[in-house]
Amino acid sequence: MSTIPSTVRITEVGPRDGLQNQPGTIPTDVKVRLVDALSASRPAEIEVSSFVSPKWVPQLADAADLLARIKRVPGIVYSVLVPNMQGLEGALQAEVEKISVFTAASETFNRRNVNATIDESIVRFVPVIAEAKKAGKQIRGYISCAIACPYEGPVDPQQVAEVSRHLVDAGVDEIDLGDTIGVAVPSDIDRLYDAVGTVVEPAATTLHMHDTRGTGLACIVRAMELGVARFDCSVGGLGGCPYAPGAAGNIATEDVVYCLHRMGIDTGIDFDQLIEAGRVIAAHLAGEGRSLPGRMFNARCAAQGLP
Ligand code: HMG
Ligand code: MG
Repeated sequence: MSTIPSTVRITEVGPRDGLQNQPGTIPTDVKVRLVDALSASRPAEIEVSSFVSPKWVPQLADAADLLARIKRVPGIVYSVLVPNMQGLEGALQAEVEKISVFTAASETFNRRNVNATIDESIVRFVPVIAEAKKAGKQIRGYISCAIACPYEGPVDPQQVAEVSRHLVDAGVDEIDLGDTIGVAVPSDIDRLYDAVGTVVEPAATTLHMHDTRGTGLACIVRAMELGVARFDCSVGGLGGCPYAPGAAGNIATEDVVYCLHRMGIDTGIDFDQLIEAGRVIAAHLAGEGRSLPGRMFNARCAAQGLP
C-alpha cells in the first residue's frame, strides 16, 4: 500500500463521454450550467465536448457554442476530443488548452468508431499532433478496448502496449487506457500494466474506467497500487459510448472522490459542489423520466433530502 499516491488527478469526462450517449440532445443551456457547476467543484480537467462529425455524434454538435459560453476557471484544464484536422481547427478556434486523439486496441471497434483501421487512425493523427504541438496544446492519446472489445472479446495487453508505443512515437503527452465496456477486474489491471509499463510509466498514464459491472473502483485502487495517479470519471456515472453497445457510463466521480478522500488521498475536488453539479444534470434527466446511476450521488441526495 506504500506506493499509493497521496494526490490523484481527476478528469471529469461527464460533459463529453456522459452526454455523447444520451438518447436525446441535451440543450446547450443545460450543458453550460453543468460545466460551470463542475468548474465550481474544481477538478484538474474537464473534458467539455468533441469536435467530431455531427453525423456520427449529433449529441455534441454544439461543441463550439458550448466552449464559447462556459466560464473558464483558471487552473482547470478544458479539453476536447479531436479525430482529424477538421476537428483540430474547431478545437484551436475554441481555444482549448488540450486535445485528445483517440484510437483503439481493437480493429473492429476502431472501424465502427472512426471508420478507420488502427494504423490509419494513427497516420491521421500525425499532422494533428504536429499542429497541436505548434499551437502549444497538450495532447492525450486514448486507447479504447484496453481490456476487451464489444465485438472481438478479450484484448491482448501486448496489443495495447503496441498501440501505446505508436502513440508515444507520434508525440502524445499522455496515454489514456479505456475499459470501454467496463469488464475489468483488478487482475486485468495487473496484466494491462505488465505490458503497457514496458512502454510508458504507469504514472504517465490515465485510466478510464466504465463501470458497467461495478468493478471500476476496485480497478482504480489496484491501479493506484501500481503507481497510476490519473483517472477519468463522470459526474453521477452519466454516460456510455455510442459505438460500444451495452456499455454503462464512466465510473461516477462522486464514488471515486468519496473513496479517495476517505483513504486520505487528495483530489482537489469540492465534494459538495460536485453534488450540486450532479443535481444540474439530474434535474434535466428527471424531466425525461431518467436518473443518474451514481451511488454516492444518490446516497448524498437521499441523506440530505435533496431532489
Ligand atoms: P468519415 O465519415 O469516415 O469521415 O468519419 P469523412 O472525412 O468522410 O467525413 C464525413 C463527413 O463528416 C463530412 O461531411 C465531413 O465534413 C464531416 P459531409 O461532407 O458529409 O457533409 N466531418 C466532420 N465534421 C465536423 N468535425 C469533424 C469532422 N470530420 C469529418 N471533425 C470521423 C470519420 C472520424 C469524422 C467520424 O467517424 C467521427 O466523427 N467519429 C467520432 C466517433 C466518436 O466521437 N466516438 C465517441 C468518442 S470515442 C469514446 O467514447 C471512447 C473513449 O471514451 C475511451 C473509452 O471509453 O474507451 C474516448
Ligand atoms: Mg469512454
